[in-house]
Amino acid sequence: MKEQARQFAKKDRKPLSAKTSNKALKSGSKTDPKNTESKTLAYSDLDVSKWRDYEDIETGSLWMFSGRDKQNGHQLDYHGNCVPQILTQLITRYTKTGDVVLDLFLGSGTSAIEAVNLGRRSVGVELKPEMVDYVREKLTEQDKGDQVVIINGNSADEQWTPKAIQRGLKQLDAAQAQFLFLHPPYADIIRFSESKADLSNAESTEAFLDQFEAVARVGYESLEPGRFAGLVIGDKYANGELIPLGFYCMDRMNRAGFKTKSIIVKNMTGNEKAKGRMNNLWRYRALKGGFYLFKHEYVIVFEKPTSSKRAKK
Ligand SMILES: C[S@@+](CC[C@H](N)C(=O)[O-])C[C@H]1O[C@@H](n2cnc3c(N)ncnc32)[C@H](O)[C@@H]1O
Repeated sequence: MKEQARQFAKKDRKPLSAKTSNKALKSGSKTDPKNTESKTLAYSDLDVSKWRDYEDIETGSLWMFSGRDKQNGHQLDYHGNCVPQILTQLITRYTKTGDVVLDLFLGSGTSAIEAVNLGRRSVGVELKPEMVDYVREKLTEQDKGDQVVIINGNSADEQWTPKAIQRGLKQLDAAQAQFLFLHPPYADIIRFSESKADLSNAESTEAFLDQFEAVARVGYESLEPGRFAGLVIGDKYANGELIPLGFYCMDRMNRAGFKTKSIIVKNMTGNEKAKGRMNNLWRYRALKGGFYLFKHEYVIVFEKPTSSKRAKK
């Protein structure tokens, strides 16, 4: 496992955008000489005829990142924020330059920062007003504010939020988003606020999933048909039992109309709080309790079909 991690470490050292723009997105790279015909995908700038050049674009279902990318405006400034490399991978594979990435759990704005770093735009919704102010400020300081619209609201509100997103998209001269990113609270694992609308305060797993499904429906409505969504989610333990939040949320995405394309297992890195004695304590608890400590989370990829068969709620 260590050897595998080392190999990936070598691979993800450079930001993917630099590599792709230097090599694969330009002509004259080490493409198959017999195959000069460009095969650009309808939803991405990647040219499949240059597939050999995309060394750092993941195509396997196991993602092992060596640490958190802390360059280009990214920082570990929010407990529970995701590693930017997830967004680098997803945005590069599933969007074109100028496309709009919609994030319904914006948090500290990782998706918005990475979207603009890669020449895309972004609309984000976040419940906590202080995070909205913080992300706006951060993006303005980075001179990226005009490509991003940030909305303070409840993403599970199916009346108000789709209209607010529409207004946001209009500000960017777009009718729909081209990629949907969802990184919800992992139920009550981290409590993000005191608000009842906060998914981390849902009273039960079922209530959490119902709220999540409402968010999935809002996302579905705002996403262009034929485009993709990425969900980052981990499981949890409760009362000595594993609660498979990842699979439950996947099912709710399907109920909202999305088709599952891939389940990726990603190592947890860059957020570790438990070091030294705490780590030992958890090892002891795992051994004693007959369970395994979470070292992974999921990145689940979905597609919004071009013809929608979703039943109205
Ligand atoms: C796991 S964090 C997302 C972190 C984000 N991907 C980042 O990198 O910073 C989940 C976020 O969802 C927000 N949230 C929870 N319930 C929400 C709701 N109903 N509507 C909008 N945002 C919500 C929380 O405040 C928190 O910031």
